[in-house]
Amino acid sequence: MLTKTINILLLFVLATLACAQNRDSVTGCIAGNVTMEFKPALLSGKEVRYYVWNKVRGVNKDPSFAKFEPRFSPQLEIYFNEEHQVQNRIFHIPEKPATLYLTDLRKSDQENYTLIISYFDYIGVPTEYIIDLQVQDVCFEKPKAVGKCAVSTCYTGENGVLKVLKTPSSTVQAVKGYKQVKVCDDKTSGSYSCCNTAGTCLVQVFQESM
Ligand SMILES: *[C@@H]1O[C@H](CO)[C@@H](O)[C@H](O)[C@H]1NC(C)=O
Ligand SMILES: *[C@@H]1O[C@H](CO)[C@@H](O)[C@H](O)[C@H]1NC(C)=O
Repeated sequence: MLTKTINILLLFVLATLACAQNRDSVTGCIAGNVTMEFKPALLSGKEVRYYVWNKVRGVNKDPSFAKFEPRFSPQLEIYFNEEHQVQNRIFHIPEKPATLYLTDLRKSDQENYTLIISYFDYIGVPTEYIIDLQVQDVCFEKPKAVGKCAVSTCYTGENGVLKVLKTPSSTVQAVKGYKQVKVCDDKTSGSYSCCNTAGTCLVQVFQESM
């Protein structure tokens, strides 16, 4: 009885550990790029038949949206493009079969992506790996020093604005997706606000030779 309880407990601990290892979280900025590196624990000695990526589309709807079948084609196949709108924004290289590169991120890309791997000559539980992709709708990192300049990028998506507060004047610039800010002299030093359409702003102070 005691052995059984311990066994069950052990199984539970192992399952929890396995779960902890087969998921990851990736954060990207709107209009920016992200690398989703799935790290499944492959079955040794088995050749992969295909890699399929799932993304929930609602109940009773086929969740698969991309497939890579190495023996069949070097290209990633995309399904339900009308719905996902990832064509021309998603990249894949055969050398890194489990990695997806997503560009020009949209808020609607924020989802859980599950990679499911199927093998030749194997009928059993397929290997899975989940990436929880979070898309921030405004990003403005602390400026980095590059030579004597201070550099950062303001990400807002479409119709964002960059407000530059500098006494005695202030200016407003349009941001189409994202805009790099580079401050190399005293004239352009100041406080910059990166704002999205919803009016959410992030402020950074830029000074030359930081
Ligand atoms: C994202 O990737 C695309 C294609 O490689 C590139 O043209 C673009 O400049 C990148 N965007 C950013 C914000 O780096
Ligand atoms: C992914 O799934 C987890 C756990 O079910 C959930 O907490 C999270 O909000 C989901 N992420 C997205 C982007 O939907």
